[in-house]
Amino acid sequence: MDGYLNHERRGEMLRNLRTDAGTLSGDYLGAARAVLHELVAIPDLIKRLPVERKPGRYTRNLLAGDEAVSVWAIVWGEGATTCIHDHHCSCCFGVVSGTVTETWYRAIDAKRAVATAEQERQAGYVACMLPSGPNIHRMRNVGPGEAISIHIYGFDHEAHESSIETEYTAVGG
Ligand SMILES: [Fe+2]
Repeated sequence: MDGYLNHERRGEMLRNLRTDAGTLSGDYLGAARAVLHELVAIPDLIKRLPVERKPGRYTRNLLAGDEAVSVWAIVWGEGATTCIHDHHCSCCFGVVSGTVTETWYRAIDAKRAVATAEQERQAGYVACMLPSGPNIHRMRNVGPGEAISIHIYGFDHEAHESSIETEYTAVGG
């Protein structure tokens, strides 16, 4: 991957995210937020990265990763939505462009959840969540147009398929 995220920049990003205290620690979360604030401040460069785009879907594009963390650009086509899910690891994200609508849920059992809140996350928004919760959510791009967000997860992308722990089905509430 060339451009902004060249080899040196990827190495610097991973060094900034390195922590002895683990990817649930306050130090790590602070570092992840700092990296995200840097990235959401350069939307024009992020948009020019050679990412995959799929109409109506979202794509995950690995920007950098090691045995502890992975950094992804998620490109949201208009109408794209995730399942309702929680995470087995820490999950920090920042919105680079467009608007990502985040809906929060409360589990009522191991597989079902009720929506509790919804927020529009605009470009520049940065947040972290921990697997200790509350962390059940769904993200989608209702448009207009594309949205891009950067996600930093505390998992080894070669050891796990994704950051998702459990998928839930929504029930009325
Ligand atoms: Fe998530």
